[in-house]
Amino acid sequence: MLFTAAAVVALAAALRVSAVPAPVEAWVSSLTNMSASDLSALAPYTQMARAAYCDPSKVTGWQCGDACNAVPGVQITTTGGDGDSVQYYYVGYYPTDNSVVVAHQGTDPTQFLSDLTDADIPMENLNSTLFPGVDSSVQVHKGFADEHAQTADIILSAVKSLISSTGATMVTLIGHSLGGALAELECMYMHLNLPSNIAVRGRTYGTPRVGNAAWASFFDSSISDFMRVDNEKDPIPICPGRFLNYSHVQGEVHIVQTDYAVECPGDDDATDAQCTISTVPNVADGDILNHLGPYQGIYIGTIYCT
Ligand SMILES: *[C@@H]1O[C@H](CO)[C@@H](O)[C@H](O)[C@H]1NC(C)=O
Ligand SMILES: *[C@@H]1O[C@H](CO)[C@@H](O)[C@H](O)[C@H]1NC(C)=O
Ligand SMILES: *[C@@H]1O[C@H](CO)[C@@H](O)[C@H](O)[C@H]1NC(C)=O
Repeated sequence: MLFTAAAVVALAAALRVSAVPAPVEAWVSSLTNMSASDLSALAPYTQMARAAYCDPSKVTGWQCGDACNAVPGVQITTTGGDGDSVQYYYVGYYPTDNSVVVAHQGTDPTQFLSDLTDADIPMENLNSTLFPGVDSSVQVHKGFADEHAQTADIILSAVKSLISSTGATMVTLIGHSLGGALAELECMYMHLNLPSNIAVRGRTYGTPRVGNAAWASFFDSSISDFMRVDNEKDPIPICPGRFLNYSHVQGEVHIVQTDYAVECPGDDDATDAQCTISTVPNVADGDILNHLGPYQGIYIGTIYCT
């Protein structure tokens, strides 16, 4: 068979692309044990979520100790936040995946749990400048949306500039706790503001619910590669409650114990005993220490930046 020059170039391009890990299809239609290889494939993102708690001066240059050393080669171009009124964040390039990565820091778990179980948790529409063309039925947690808006523009320009300088074909949004909620919002923000040939995916840990059912279905139909990892009896992922009309998006991975995690179907799996809702039916059944980990051996939080 004869190959034209164009076909050879196309084949070379196809081979080059196939050298990058294929996006994991997160959706399952019934409870599925996660394979050992899929579970260990989460580790780099878990470490990047952990690194988001480290001081920006150490994340710049990717010198934040164990978390940075565990994922060699990440090239950071932008860091920010003050760890207080604005969570730390960073933007960089992860050559292994040919992906831009954006990670957001979380917050103090005990204070966060108390905020999330507060009776008054207002939802609002997404800002139509940042999130153009979204149906008015879609509503999200006002505090998360406000926090996301504080860094949205600077992060989007950093992402665009890295895509253009590296040829990245993907953006990966990462975060733990409040940082996971920000990453979930940022998935949609990137989806709506980047060219459609850039894949958008998310990996979050211990994430609370972000919006209402309309948000969840809009998200599920827009973002096809998303995993939100819940650890054992962490109560944060069952907040804010479904009785307040909050809904999770798809992609639940529940770590039942070390070396045993399941992928749970649907937005809020209340049926399968191994998934979060049945494991932690009420906040009082939870253990806030599980919010910090171990996420398959990795702890995430301010004190784990060594
Ligand atoms: C899933 O893993 C658990 C724990 O290792 C095991 O008990 C169970 O049989 C597995 N289920 C399937 C369908 O493989
Ligand atoms: C929406 O976001 C834009 C861009 O950040 C900002 O200028 C505007 O004030 C925001 N609108 C509202 C109602 O918050
Ligand atoms: C939840 O949504 C339903 C239907 O839109 C509405 O009637 C109800 O007031 C909402 N509940 C809360 C707590 O907002």
